[in-house]
Amino acid sequence: VAPLTLRRPAWFRHQLPVHSPLPMGAVLPAVAAWLRPGADPRLRLAEELRAHYGANACVPCGSGTQALQLALRLALRGVESDARVALPAFSCYDLAAAAVHAGQPVLLYDLDPDTLAPDPDALERTLRAGARVVVAAPLYGMPLDWQALRTQCDAHGALLIEDAAQGAGADWQGRPLGAWGDLSVLSFGRGKGWTGGRGGALLLRGGFADALMEAQPAPGGAHAEASALAGAAAQNLLGRPALYGVPMSIPWLRLGETVYHPPRPVVTLPRAAAAMLLATRGAAEREAGARRHNAAVLLAGLEPRQGVRTVQPLPGGEPGYLRLPLRLDAGLAGFADPGAALRLGIAPSYPQPLSALPPLRTLLADRTDLPGSLELARTLITLPTHSLLTRGERAEVLRLVNTYGSAGWINLAGRCYVS
Ligand SMILES: Cc1ncc(COP(=O)(O)O)c(C=O)c1O
Repeated sequence: VAPLTLRRPAWFRHQLPVHSPLPMGAVLPAVAAWLRPGADPRLRLAEELRAHYGANACVPCGSGTQALQLALRLALRGVESDARVALPAFSCYDLAAAAVHAGQPVLLYDLDPDTLAPDPDALERTLRAGARVVVAAPLYGMPLDWQALRTQCDAHGALLIEDAAQGAGADWQGRPLGAWGDLSVLSFGRGKGWTGGRGGALLLRGGFADALMEAQPAPGGAHAEASALAGAAAQNLLGRPALYGVPMSIPWLRLGETVYHPPRPVVTLPRAAAAMLLATRGAAEREAGARRHNAAVLLAGLEPRQGVRTVQPLPGGEPGYLRLPLRLDAGLAGFADPGAALRLGIAPSYPQPLSALPPLRTLLADRTDLPGSLELARTLITLPTHSLLTRGERAEVLRLVNTYGSAGWINLAGRCYVS
């Protein structure tokens, strides 16, 4: 076995927190498909997704957020006008954007920080308080106990939307995430493991099987096609560790920050994005295997340490490890050199619960305590699991976590930890 050497990275080398393969070999045929349109790649993609995720129908959309907007619109069709939508209090800010688009009163349920799954008591409170549509969103590919959620929602006649945007490569009971809801949402954004530069899809099942015509989004137009291709080319060029330091250093790109983006009109997936998704499907599947392997090596290499906690996968699920979530008592600030951690692709999770977002606050039907979500906002970080991580970097990630807080440090709450 060759000895492991840790080379000091060049100053601009910056590991990505997450990687979705998008080789030039996938971008160029998409340009050709756009310039010389033949068979619409969206039809083939929709059919492949429908078959893979076991749905009655599939609607490709401009983004995962738009697919969720569409899901909420369909789910809210038949319910009372004052029905409430329940969202996880700790999640991607795009859930808030989709709820703002729906304009319905919102209740937030807390998560269990040990598993990132809904806290059953907190979910029960939202159901008793009138939630008729519940959005459940597995984070970082950590599967949720779908049967338990379904049983709980069924008892109150509430509809369950599966937001599987982060579910690439993950299974629950042998079926992929995205195969579980009457309405399931997929995202093909840059950081989702399988990408067409952008995009999303809504999967319809059960009582929604015949809503396909009603769910058709507006066309995105030439501008959407051009911007999908430009975004994909930029991702191909700069989304690699040797060059990622360049976009990271441009403040207005706000890479690595969690930003609230207001909802936009729902449009259909660009043809170019569909062509890229078809071309990268195999690579995305291989990438999921690499993520699971790296996650297993990282988990095996973590030493028991005060202030460091892993997230427990629920029995019955196979995580996709889009990133490897970890709870650190003082978050990134507890590393001796947080900048070095960031350059290795270690990243903070969402900095605030959704209750802190002003556009959503106006829709909140209730203010409840959210201790789990507040704790996650303070402590949750992620380790990179993707295939661009070298063995040396993986070892360095482990070294940083296994020495976390060893110099003694004071966290933002003023508590002092000394290992
Ligand atoms: C859980 C979740 N839902 C929805 C979305 C929205 O997906 P998109 O970026 O494709 O709009 C994201 C994106 O990060 C997400 O993580």
